[in-house]
Amino acid sequence: MRLKDKVAIITGSGRGIGAATAIKFAKEGAKVVVCDINIDDINRTVSEIKALGTETIGIKVDVTNNEDVANLMNKTLEKFEKIDILVNNAGITADARLIKMEEDQFDRVIAVNLKGTYNCGKEAAKIMLEQGNGVILNASSVVGIYGNFGQTNYAATKFGVIGMTKTWCKELSPKGIRVNAVAPGFILSPMTEKMPEKVLNFMKEKAPLKRLGQPEDIANAYAFLASDEASFITGAVLEVTGGVVL
Ligand SMILES: NC(=O)c1ccc[n+]([C@@H]2O[C@H](COP(=O)([O-])OP(=O)(O)OC[C@H]3O[C@@H](n4cnc5c(N)ncnc54)[C@H](O)[C@@H]3O)[C@@H](O)[C@H]2O)c1
Repeated sequence: MRLKDKVAIITGSGRGIGAATAIKFAKEGAKVVVCDINIDDINRTVSEIKALGTETIGIKVDVTNNEDVANLMNKTLEKFEKIDILVNNAGITADARLIKMEEDQFDRVIAVNLKGTYNCGKEAAKIMLEQGNGVILNASSVVGIYGNFGQTNYAATKFGVIGMTKTWCKELSPKGIRVNAVAPGFILSPMTEKMPEKVLNFMKEKAPLKRLGQPEDIANAYAFLASDEASFITGAVLEVTGGVVL
């Protein structure tokens, strides 16, 4: 078990990639804090983890809300006494072409994907600095490397997440905290289920591996980067895309 007795917070772990990551981490021996804005989804992931016989708690969190984030860290410390791993996975899309994109659409995506990552990263980093160790993993995207039609807001956040990852690496890694990003390609999850089928088929054909990703493909990458096997990896952006280039 690669994450035995590690305490891991995974934001947005009610469903999709976050839920798959929470379950993978639990199978690798981690004590997982399941947090999400949606309480029903939290309860489902928590039940699946409990069925594995692993310790877990569920906490309702809106990552854009500072009080919620402070409560998340406090409750985690109360229950598990440390925070070894933070996966900043919570994210949303609100797509439109540039000239059709409303200010509210732009602001919402920035608030969750960029500011939410900053909020959680900052509070976890304070605790990890006191501990003298920790791992922070951030969800970027292939869109955060190449940009994508209709995703001005989302691309801005996912490029920004890479900027924060590299900056936190410089600030935190000298103190024992590794910080990396994962850039998934097109992964079958509730986020992509709302995309037109022809776009998904196009992305599948574009990928040299000729398939879309599964949430578990990303969970496996997070598990590796969180583990001691990745002890010399920091400031990296791991593309998990089936080779797709946009
Ligand atoms: N699916 C893909 O193809 C893909 C590709 C690249 C990157 N990503 C990134 O991976 C991450 C997970 O994506 P997914 O496909 O599993 O999406 P998803 O929509 O299936 O899951 C996202 C989760 O985040 C939660 N969430 C949303 N806003 C929140 C908030 N304010 N506070 C707390 N939780 C909140 C949702 O409730 C949901 O459970 C996202 O950051 C996404 O941008 C996904």
